[in-house]
Amino acid sequence: MATARSVQRCGVCGHELDERDVASVCTRCGGLLEIDHPPRTDGRELREKFAARRASRTGVDASGVWRYRELVLPTARTVEIVSHPEGNTPLLARDQVSGWSGVDSLLLKHEGYNPTGSFKDRGMTVAMTQANRTRARAVACASTGNTSASLAAYAAQAGIPALVFVPAGQVARGKLTQTIAYGARTLLVRGNFDACLALARDASAALGVQLLNSINPFRLEGQKSIVFELLEQLGWDPPEWLVLPAGNLGNTAAFGKALREAYASGLIARLPRLAAIQASGAAPFAQSFVTGFADRRTVEPETVATAIKIGAPASWDRAVRAIRETDGVVISVSDDEILQAKAVVDAAGIGCEPASAASVAGVRALRASGEISTSDRVVAVLTGHLLKDPDTIVRYHQETEPPPDRANPPVEIEARVEEVERVLRG
Ligand code: F0G
Repeated sequence: MATARSVQRCGVCGHELDERDVASVCTRCGGLLEIDHPPRTDGRELREKFAARRASRTGVDASGVWRYRELVLPTARTVEIVSHPEGNTPLLARDQVSGWSGVDSLLLKHEGYNPTGSFKDRGMTVAMTQANRTRARAVACASTGNTSASLAAYAAQAGIPALVFVPAGQVARGKLTQTIAYGARTLLVRGNFDACLALARDASAALGVQLLNSINPFRLEGQKSIVFELLEQLGWDPPEWLVLPAGNLGNTAAFGKALREAYASGLIARLPRLAAIQASGAAPFAQSFVTGFADRRTVEPETVATAIKIGAPASWDRAVRAIRETDGVVISVSDDEILQAKAVVDAAGIGCEPASAASVAGVRALRASGEISTSDRVVAVLTGHLLKDPDTIVRYHQETEPPPDRANPPVEIEARVEEVERVLRG
């Protein structure tokens, strides 16, 4: 593997730290750190390398993250890498979803196919590899569910003790189940996600524990691979739009960095536009976009999409850069629109969690407002799996006042053929 040196650089003051420094933020000003890799201009050679690795069935080349390691963490040695493997998620086309959104060439990049059910595994394999090679005594995160499940699984694989902070009573049962089952010490904090993250940051700093939230720059390096992989699946011919749900803004920042690097290295010749979609009850970034990001906002978040129920997003500045550099947009969609989009994605036989459906609701809204035109090729990212939040699904389909358009409530019957026949007749 290449041995070129990458560094960690503060996004605010530019202060440089060694790649192996375990500081969670800039030691000079407290700003968030970013990884600076030695610049590359060998896009064509990289494309060939990546393609050759696709044939691998074992080892790190079989990972949809580490296959792109020159752009992720070039100095990682194979023995240090903690990989499930992860990634290798499909790009799906479904007429029902295209029809509903009004965009003919809509593709869905389904990150729910990752090992613990969300895109978080792509960042976690890199952050846990870094924790492993810097000999972390323990790792921690705050989470709305997906990050905790992912951290717990990768910590178990690495043999590193894990501590998880989740908002009490606000995390989907399946995610809590995974986190506990994989063996993480799970703390139910009386407060929302923003309170959990503040506590996780303070506790990690005080106790010498490595924080693996998306403020950790190595997480973002892994999440960039969503973009590399979908571009490769499209033959490195970028779509016009890349649409994703946005909460803490780590993924928005990661997508921006991936596109910047893919363009600079010559992997792609043109930048897609990013569209970040928030839930209207948790939309500080969308509100700020309207004013040209004149101010940084926080809100008291409320939405059915628990994964993006975040009022004080951490990766704000780097997400602003991502939107600006890609001529991107940020909008919000209502919980009703999210649940409708989710019902459409679910009924197409794919399924996703509520927060993920925000991206499809966003495509429809941007098409309706004319921002996306009919001929645009659009990739919407489904960030998490259908089974994340069964309670929301059951509630939606059993709603009676009034029943939603696509309601499919289960029917209880006596164990008799006539009863089945009655149901079949409708
Ligand atoms: N979609 C899903 C399924 C998520 O779990 C998250 C974040 C997002 C979208 C938003 O991504 O924060 O990078 O803007 N979930 C975090 C968690 C907060 O704890 O699992 P973001």
